[in-house]
Amino acid sequence: MLVVEHLDVAYRRTQVLFDVSLEVPDGGLVCVMGRNGVGKTTLLNTVMGVLKPSAGRVTWDGQDITAMRPHERVRAGIGYAPQGHPTFPQLTVAENLAVVMESSGAAAAGQAAIDEALDLFPRLKDLLGRKAGFLSGGQAQQLALARALVTRPRLLVLDEPTEGIQPSIILEIEDAIAQLHASRGLSILLVEQYVEFALRLADRYVVLDAGEVVASGVTSELADDSSVRRLLAV
Ligand SMILES: Nc1ncnc2c1ncn2[C@@H]1O[C@H](COP(=O)(O)OP(=O)(O)OP(=O)(O)O)[C@@H](O)[C@H]1O
Ligand SMILES: [Mg+2]
Repeated sequence: MLVVEHLDVAYRRTQVLFDVSLEVPDGGLVCVMGRNGVGKTTLLNTVMGVLKPSAGRVTWDGQDITAMRPHERVRAGIGYAPQGHPTFPQLTVAENLAVVMESSGAAAAGQAAIDEALDLFPRLKDLLGRKAGFLSGGQAQQLALARALVTRPRLLVLDEPTEGIQPSIILEIEDAIAQLHASRGLSILLVEQYVEFALRLADRYVVLDAGEVVASGVTSELADDSSVRRLLAV
């Protein structure tokens, strides 16, 4: 279980997150929503240890990981697919998966972990020899998700996996996330601005506005809640 408590985060003197708390229970799927620039990526980068909070803490499996470095968090079972699906553009799809797996200390899982990830994104199987820099946006996003998966995480942290991606691929990605959650029991912390996608997938939601949690609750109670939709409207 992931517990985020009272996080304050600043870039130099500009504070961006204010007293942000949330929890992802074991096997839960929590969606963080909010308009552009409200601090969603900042929150995920703090959960992953890319940014250090000026106050508050992050606990994983009962252990305080606030001071832990990003790669140690990956080894502790937290996988991350950052916004904009960064990959190693000069490496092939197969090499991208191998490098991430080895550097994460999951190498013991070997080919089985790669096969498992590819089963979820079968399109990638035909692209293993292609350089990642030549993938389409949708293909690169699937690679980014597969890269996060080969580390065999128990918690998957995803930043806007549908951003800039065509509807048919969005459905494939939604399907893959739903499978990971339902069949493999993965816990998922998802940032998503595409409300319908978030509502279909998530058990719980958190809405950020100007760096603060302004709404949170159970997704099934949100379906026709116009006050939350108003918070998300641009
Ligand atoms: N490296 C940085 N240095 C200074 N300010 C930053 C930095 N990164 C983000 N910010 C600012 O922090 C605020 C929150 O940014 P963040 O990227 O967390 O928002 P977001 O909710 O993920 O937005 P989006 O939906 O566009 O991805 C914004 O005002 C942004 O300009
Ligand atoms: Mg962002």
